[in-house]
Amino acid sequence: MFLTYVGIYDSVEDAKADYEAVHDLHVKAGLIDAYDAAVIERKENGKVKIVKKHETPTRVGGVGGGTLGLATGLVIALFPAAAIGGERVGMRLSPHGVNAGMTPYAEIDETYRALVPRLAAAGIQYLHLVDHSAMGAPEVPEALKRELRSAWPRTFVLAGGFDRAGVEAALREGRADLVALGRPFLANPDLVTRLERGMPLNPPDFATFYTPGPAGYTDYPKAA
Ligand SMILES: Cc1cc2nc3c(=O)[nH]c(=O)nc-3n(C[C@H](O)[C@H](O)[C@H](O)COP(=O)(O)O)c2cc1C
Repeated sequence: MFLTYVGIYDSVEDAKADYEAVHDLHVKAGLIDAYDAAVIERKENGKVKIVKKHETPTRVGGVGGGTLGLATGLVIALFPAAAIGGERVGMRLSPHGVNAGMTPYAEIDETYRALVPRLAAAGIQYLHLVDHSAMGAPEVPEALKRELRSAWPRTFVLAGGFDRAGVEAALREGRADLVALGRPFLANPDLVTRLERGMPLNPPDFATFYTPGPAGYTDYPKAA
C-alpha cells in the first residue's frame, strides 16, 4: 500500500513525535517497508528549516496507485508545499533519467502518471519536465510528455535538447507554456541577444561539465 500524509502542527515537538512514530513503525514494528519523511519548520522571520529528514534510498517498490519510487518525489514535494504554500514551490521531473546510477524500471510511465495529479492537487505552481536523452539517457516517450502536459493545470515547462527553432515549435504546438535551455545558456553569456538576433551559438564543451573552477562556466566568449 502507498500512503501519503501531510500534517501541519502548532509545535515542532509535536511534528517530531509523529516523525519518530513513523520511524518506529518502520524499525520496531516492521509495518512499513520504506518511507520518506521530513519535519519542516517555518520560523517567525518566514525562513524555512528542515529539522529532520529521512529518505529510503530505493526506486523499487510495489505498483498500484503508487510506488516507492513515487514516494521519494512526492513526499519531498508535498512537505515544502505544506510549509510555505504550493504557489511558492515548483517541481522538476526527469522521467527515464539515469543520473547517479538510477536504472530503468518497468513502471516509469505509470509512476509519473500517478504522481502528476497528486502534485497538481498539492497546488504546486509549475511542473518542469526534462528529457535527458540529449545527454545520453533513454528518450522520454512523446505520448507521456503530452499526457503529463494535459494532466497539469498550471504552468508547464519542457527542457532538454532544445534550440531556438525547437522552442518556437514547442510553444506554437502548445506542448509547453515555457521551454528551458541548459547547455546553450551555459555556453553563451549573451544567449538572449544571440537568440533575438538569430546569431550562431557557441557549442558547449562537454569536457568542462561538472568540473571545478571557472573553465567552462565563465570563459565562453560573447559574440562580437
Ligand atoms: C554542467 C551541468 C550541470 C547540470 N546540473 C543540473 C542539476 O544540478 N540539476 C538538474 O536538474 N539538471 C542539471 N543539469 C541538466 C540541465 O538542467 C538540463 O536539463 C540539461 O542540460 C538538458 O537541457 P539542455 O539540452 O538545454 O542542456 C545540468 C547540466 C549541465 C550541462
